[in-house]
Amino acid sequence: MDIVLSGIRSTGKLHLGNYYGALQNFTRMQENNKCYFFIADIHSLTTHPDPKLLHENVKNVLVDYLAAGIDPEKSVIYVQSDLIETTELYLYLNMHAYLGELSKTSSFKEKARKQPDNVNAGLLTYPTLMAADILIHNADKVPVGKDQEQHLEMTRRFARRFNHFYDVEYFKEPVAYNFGNELVKIPGLDGSGKMGKSEGNAIYLADTPKEIEKKVKRALTDSGPTEQNSVKPDYIENLYTILKVVSTPDVVKHYEDKWNTCEIRYGDLKKQLAEDIIKVTSPIRERILEIERDNEYLKKVTLEGAEKARESASKTVNDVREIMGFKKF
Ligand code: TYM
Repeated sequence: MDIVLSGIRSTGKLHLGNYYGALQNFTRMQENNKCYFFIADIHSLTTHPDPKLLHENVKNVLVDYLAAGIDPEKSVIYVQSDLIETTELYLYLNMHAYLGELSKTSSFKEKARKQPDNVNAGLLTYPTLMAADILIHNADKVPVGKDQEQHLEMTRRFARRFNHFYDVEYFKEPVAYNFGNELVKIPGLDGSGKMGKSEGNAIYLADTPKEIEKKVKRALTDSGPTEQNSVKPDYIENLYTILKVVSTPDVVKHYEDKWNTCEIRYGDLKKQLAEDIIKVTSPIRERILEIERDNEYLKKVTLEGAEKARESASKTVNDVREIMGFKKF
């Protein structure tokens, strides 16, 4: 039985990228693995969110998690800031994380460019907090999208370094995980590389069918191919990439054939794409509307989740303290 840990930052509602990168299918893993799903609210502080919105965003992710099929009877679902053991481990791991490697991380460089007036230490040590999230439960598998690959690599390095420095075989080296052979990257609808919350190009699990139709309709296209079997420009390839995850293989083949014979009508492709996205999101949206009203249930889930998460977390922190040489008088 593997230990699986999935995390999502509480910076807004979940979109299709989060769903296919870290959630869809993983709900199936609940049956025969020990699964943890948590909401990374401390990580969200690196961009200084409005305190009035912090709780609302945690709630959004929690509700979306539950609506997408995470079952608190089978999995542990908790809020990062409820498990203070993680921040203790983060502190210890930081003693073995170096400025050179942290400042070279792609996500740090990107954020430093985006928010030059707020290059805080939390941003720099984002990967050590993420490593602590994972190592606190000694997870084997971490479902993530392609953008988190480097963070997982760093987690393995931190685990290895700790083991080596203290001459123990304590931490496992967790692997980034997705069904299929590769980590996924769901593109945005604006022709850009990645669907993201801050990019304004996302389709959310909570979007209404009308909103989805409107967003898909607005996606960038052109006047169509003029040569048979030509290579698709990125913004068209993006639409096909999304089609591949939401539609059946025969539907994808139909539109690939249309492209290859220059008979593609983007109107039809977009209609199909919107329809198939709505098929995925509609049942989730219905559950979102039910669950979000039930504050008592959300309270119970997070309280019990934190308690269950603490079982493995407090053991890890106690072991780590001992390994590092802390002793009681
Ligand atoms: P966040 O909130 O940016 O994204 C959450 C998860 O969704 C995936 N994802 C995508 N996958 C495919 N295509 C996309 N367009 C796309 N956009 C987002 C991300 O890869 C991620 O798996 N650092 C993490 C949060 C975190 C975490 C952890 C994750 C903190 N501690 C420990 C796993 C384990 C993050 O920024 O997630």
